[in-house]
Amino acid sequence: MKHVFNKGKDPKKPTLLLLHGTGGNELDLLPLAETVDDQASVLSVRGNISENGMPRFFKRLAEGVFDEEDLIYRTKELNQFLDNAAQEYGFDRDNIIAIGYSNGANIAASLLFHYQHALKGAILHHPMVPRRGIKLPELTGKAVFIAAGKNDPICSSDESIELQSLLENANVNVEMHWEDSGHQLTSTEVASASRWYRSLDFNQ
Ligand code: MLT
Repeated sequence: MKHVFNKGKDPKKPTLLLLHGTGGNELDLLPLAETVDDQASVLSVRGNISENGMPRFFKRLAEGVFDEEDLIYRTKELNQFLDNAAQEYGFDRDNIIAIGYSNGANIAASLLFHYQHALKGAILHHPMVPRRGIKLPELTGKAVFIAAGKNDPICSSDESIELQSLLENANVNVEMHWEDSGHQLTSTEVASASRWYRSLDFNQ
């Protein structure tokens, strides 16, 4: 997958996996990683799907309606890419924190829904429920921060709460952050995500 890897100053820190929104690319979220942890390694990936020229991480049938078969395939592809990247760049495969926005948050959530060891944690900006009706792996020890908009036209508050409870039922430690706004990524939610990240065990 097309990507950038920037080796961090502190090898004990997690590797931050950046996953952009629809129409974005691997450069979009680099400033976010800088805000969250400027000592950590960064792996920022471009989605392999092109929707009328707009990069995405999996196909959709309509806005908010996912192509489930492709989602499953692309989630596996990304998980394998992470295995390979960890070997190639020499970072700890078991210490990856995803930071995703919108479509990128959805594939990050899908990694958690399908693979027990894909991620150590995730910051999800405006995610949706990636799949329904499946049993999630046992995810004790994982931590997830969800930023959701009370007036998000793409993801309702109910869906954000549904995602929270699906993850909590798999024993994920979830922190919710609510914005009064819609689907956009705000500076206040990024500041809140950074505070949450700094409060995690490995930063104590
Ligand atoms: C998606 O397709 O992943 C969601 O609708 C979010 C988006 O990318 O617009």
